[in-house]
Amino acid sequence: MRTLVLIGSRRKNGATAAKAQQLARTLDPDGQQTTIHFVDDLKVASCCGCNYCRKTPGCSQKDDAEMVIQEIQDSEAVIIASPVYFGTLSGQMKTLCDRLYPLYRGGGQSLISGKALYLVYTQHSGCDTYSEVRKANEDYLFRFLGFNLIQTVVVGKDGEKTY
Ligand SMILES: Cc1cc2nc3c(=O)[nH]c(=O)nc-3n(C[C@H](O)[C@H](O)[C@H](O)COP(=O)(O)O)c2cc1C
Repeated sequence: MRTLVLIGSRRKNGATAAKAQQLARTLDPDGQQTTIHFVDDLKVASCCGCNYCRKTPGCSQKDDAEMVIQEIQDSEAVIIASPVYFGTLSGQMKTLCDRLYPLYRGGGQSLISGKALYLVYTQHSGCDTYSEVRKANEDYLFRFLGFNLIQTVVVGKDGEKTY
């Protein structure tokens, strides 16, 4: 399965990278169709809020976010993996997510309607902590953009839970 993995931790051997890559192997066992990006290795400026993408497909800023937007469209499954920082996504992952706004075309239309999404969060706290934040991210970010959330995996001090 063509799988795109976006990792929002700088720690290449950290918990988030480990879980994301383990999950990717279940979707694409030989890894031949898997693309992995550590968000910090990409050049992704913050959204400038110009609303160019509300009027015209694409983004006014030319950087790696455009590549990620294309790769999401070309993939069959996307894994978005982030350490929990202060209860939510890491800053670099949130910055990238803001730049995905061109995928949403308004009026409930999306360029990626139904695209399979797997979310991975790693955190120090127990797995059930921050469920309300995860729900908000699901509703206002990931489902809003058009993703079909297949599952959320949380790794915490009490082990691992799938929601
Ligand atoms: C800046 C910062 C903020 C954090 N905030 C939280 C938090 O709010 N709740 C929590 O349970 N863990 C928090 N942690 C712990 C990380 O989420 C946890 O160690 C995570 O598994 C790290 O993933 P990594 O190994 O991929 O870097 C924080 C860590 C850092 C560095």
